[in-house]
Amino acid sequence: KLMLFSGAMDGMNHSVVSEFVFLGLTNSWDIQFLLLVFSLLFYFSSIMGNLVIVFTVTLDAHLHSPMYFLLANLSVIDMVFCSITAPKMICDIFKKHKTISFLGCITQIFFSHAVGATEMVLLIAMAFDRYVAICKPLHYLTIMSPKMCLYFLVTSWIIGVIHSSVQLVFVVDLPFCGPNIFDSFYCDLPRLLRLACTNTQELEFMVTVNSGLISVGSFVVLVISYIFILFTVWKHSPGGLSKALSTLSAHVTVVVLFFGPLMFFYTWPSPTSHLDKYLAIFDAFITPFLNPVIYTFRNKDMKVAMRKLWSRLMHYRKIS
Ligand SMILES: *[C@@H]1O[C@H](CO)[C@@H](O)[C@H](O)[C@H]1NC(C)=O
Repeated sequence: KLMLFSGAMDGMNHSVVSEFVFLGLTNSWDIQFLLLVFSLLFYFSSIMGNLVIVFTVTLDAHLHSPMYFLLANLSVIDMVFCSITAPKMICDIFKKHKTISFLGCITQIFFSHAVGATEMVLLIAMAFDRYVAICKPLHYLTIMSPKMCLYFLVTSWIIGVIHSSVQLVFVVDLPFCGPNIFDSFYCDLPRLLRLACTNTQELEFMVTVNSGLISVGSFVVLVISYIFILFTVWKHSPGGLSKALSTLSAHVTVVVLFFGPLMFFYTWPSPTSHLDKYLAIFDAFITPFLNPVIYTFRNKDMKVAMRKLWSRLMHYRKIS
């Protein structure tokens, strides 16, 4: 009883599918149990780690600088991003019938693309911030002014929302006449297109170009900017190269982990492999968890600020 037909749907007469069914990652009970533990652990650590960053940056005046504001914004984005698919997946793990409504599916796709693209643009802004700090330190505060930060932020959200809306405008009108099975644990665009009862080749091409271009494009821009920063450092003060490398290696790790799976989804020609649904775990659980780890716990100022915040908290608790 996996197919769910529902006669004439009000408002959407072109479509008879009212919900989709997820197959999940596996049927084995043991692996499901492991998956539950693993995803709960990573989900809560991501939320906690990112919350700690947002609170630390907001509450500590020493951290009121462009770099930390961008970092705190990245944390907000990460929390939103991992809340799009993870909670639903966690609730679904032991359900026999994992279903999602049509609207729920579209919502997942909309937010994952909007927030994902926003994160990409924000990562570019963070790379630019590091470029200015390392290569033009004397002009850092004039270039990365509060206005500029806000401008980066607003631009990245606008780009994210436009990127996502452009794709979905075409999708909501597609006819879905029966097939409704996702061999996955969340809704993604390439799989949704394959369920439509019409030729979606052009649309698939559009999605590949749109999502592929934004992910590969941002990746290339980021890699080039890191190489450029390292080259500049090497030319001016070869001694500083190892320090710059250690700063940037954190960024590069995040970028590779975040973009690797995405570029695979949208540019790999044969979508039949199951590899992509396992790779999706990286973006759903691991990257949002790693961002705080990589950007924060290796950063001395951040560690000092967190320790101060912690002792202040303990102090308040003693008083009250
Ligand atoms: C995000 O960035 C803006 C602009 O720099 C800043 O005002 C805001 O406080 C940041 N958000 C967080 C949660 O830190």
